[in-house]
Amino acid sequence: MNNRWSLPKNDPWSTPFAESLLHHLEIQKGDHVLDIASGGGIPAFHLAEQVGPEGSVLAVDVHQSQVLRSRSVQGTQLPWLRFEVGDMRFLPDDLQKFDRITGNLSFMFFRPNRFEALQNLVRFLKPGGQVVLTFPSMGTFDSLWNHVDKEMAARSFENERRALDEYINERPSASDAEKWLNELGLEKVKVSEHPLEIPTGAGREFLEHPLLRGGFLDDIYECFQDQDLASEFMNDIADNIGNFTPLFAVRCAMCGWKPA
Ligand SMILES: C[S@@+](CC[C@H](N)C(=O)[O-])C[C@H]1O[C@@H](n2cnc3c(N)ncnc32)[C@H](O)[C@@H]1O
Repeated sequence: MNNRWSLPKNDPWSTPFAESLLHHLEIQKGDHVLDIASGGGIPAFHLAEQVGPEGSVLAVDVHQSQVLRSRSVQGTQLPWLRFEVGDMRFLPDDLQKFDRITGNLSFMFFRPNRFEALQNLVRFLKPGGQVVLTFPSMGTFDSLWNHVDKEMAARSFENERRALDEYINERPSASDAEKWLNELGLEKVKVSEHPLEIPTGAGREFLEHPLLRGGFLDDIYECFQDQDLASEFMNDIADNIGNFTPLFAVRCAMCGWKPA
């Protein structure tokens, strides 16, 4: 089989999560796949190559910029793969049913009601179909959150601490994922978790870390009303990374099968 579209080797975040997804996913030629939160096409391109022209992959992302970027990478290749704009939580009722539903780094965005969003999604599985989703689960970067909490307490930042606490507790856990898949009547439910170390240097390297800045550090800044205070606080945190490194994410994959 051609492997032109294997997962990118130099991606330290999406690729390890997608490897967990592929570990659980059973896929064959001719399968029809829905890939949600498709972003730049990990793993949609790879899945399209696996299912071949007898199958199809519909890759859905809520941000048009992501869809346009993926379409431009695709060009005229893999014509049975389509990138479309759509919200994975509110897919249209008349959408076709799929043999497989995948979503790499997706489940954390099933807000505000993760169970309901999951219930809506699995409606689009054919009987005997499989869903596999990945996300950073509870425990991800806990050494950082614990340190930030301690520093907030030392400075008597009570409002900011409360906001941080809310953010931390809102994260999805592997046990929620397992419980919900079972409650939805899925079979052969499996949920796995593996640590993933995210290396970082101190100072600007930490504050502008391409992975941490976008998804995680911004959440700390959002705990502050006063952004100057937030910057001052974060500069101190960044200068002392020995207090919370090594930094580990928890790579969680959840999967289940719709009864045949
Ligand atoms: C962390 S990226 C993962 C992208 C890709 N699957 C990967 O592994 O690189 C998450 C993606 O989910 C998309 N997203 C967030 N909320 C969404 C929603 N409600 N419906 C569809 N896509 C969503 C974002 O636009 C972003 O592209």
